[in-house]
This record gives sequence, C-alpha cells and structure tokens, in this order.
Amino acid sequence: MSDTFTKGMARNIYFGGSVFFFLIFLALTYHTEKTFPERSNQAQLTESVIRGKGVWERNNCIGCHTLLGEGAYFAPELGNVVNRRGGEEAFKPFLQAWMKMQPLGVPGRRAMPQFHLSEQEVDDIAEFLKWSSKINTNGWPPNKEG
Ligand code: HEC
Repeated sequence: MSDTFTKGMARNIYFGGSVFFFLIFLALTYHTEKTFPERSNQAQLTESVIRGKGVWERNNCIGCHTLLGEGAYFAPELGNVVNRRGGEEAFKPFLQAWMKMQPLGVPGRRAMPQFHLSEQEVDDIAEFLKWSSKINTNGWPPNKEG
C-alpha cells in the first residue's frame, strides 16, 4: 500500500477534494441567493404592514402570543391566525370585532386585555398578520390551531 499510495496522490486528493467541495459550496450559495426573491414576500411589504408591526411591538402582543413559534405561550399562536379566522377577506372584520370585545370575561378562560386601539391601528395589525402568514415556513405551525 505504502508503495502505491504516494505523497503526490495524497496531495492531489487533498487539493482536489478542497476544490471540489469549494465549487459545491459556491453552487449552493448561488442557488440560495437565486431562490431568495421567491421565498420572501418583500414585494407586499406595504406602509400598512410596517405600521402594523409598530403597533404590534408597542402593545407587546408577543408578551402573551407566539408568532411563528417565537414569543410567550400564554395565548394562541398568531402566525396562522389569518387562516384560522376567516382567511384573506374575512380576517380584518374578525380582528376589528375581536379587539373590541376584549376582555371576554368568560369564567375559567384566559383573558386578553382591552387595548383601546383605533380602527386604523387594528387594520394595520391585520395587514401585518396577513403578511406574516405568507412567510414560507415549510408548513410551520403544523396544525391550524397553532
Ligand atoms: C395579556 C396577554 C395578552 C396580550 C398582551 C395580547 N393577547 Fe391576544 N389573546 C390573549 C388570550 C388569552 C387569547 C385567547 C382568548 C380566548 O380564547 O378567549 C388571545 C387571543 C387573541 C386572538 C384570537 C386568536 C384565535 O385563535 O382566535 C387574536 C387575534 C389576538 N389575541 C390578538 C392580539 C393582538 C393583536 C395583541 C396585541 C395588540 C394581543 N393579542 C395581545 C392574551 C393576550
């Protein structure tokens, strides 16, 4: 074995392997960069979505809710609440009604506070949640109830 496997061969395998895997690395980087535009939905990033993110943050919705798994586990996941509560069309009216109704005051049920938000602010949160629901998460969360 030591007669046939020379230093030169070892060097070739070392350099050849390095070049080979570096080329694979470049190809995968190129592929990732190329598929970014179709994976993100930046095109629909409207003024309303941006305002909605601000309202969401100022009111600390994440202090009780999760958004795509991140946040607190006191209240339902909201990454897919649009699909759960009416879909594209009916979600805005649902959220307007929902925000006005809080707190529900059902005994034994976790309560959500009243935030006294304007209709515009609630519409903006709805747009933000609609935008979030379209992020490609490979199917997360796994079920409709979050
Ligand atoms: C103090 C904790 C708390 C905070 C803060 C909070 N929520 Fe909630 N939220 C809840 C709880 C608890 C529920 C479930 C209530 C129920 O089912 O009666 C809920 C439910 C909801 C639902 C309905 C979810 C569904 O599956 O139907 C929406 C939408 C929602 N919250 C939006 C918001 C938004 C927007 C904010 C920020 C402005 C917010 N929440 C902040 C506790 C909170």
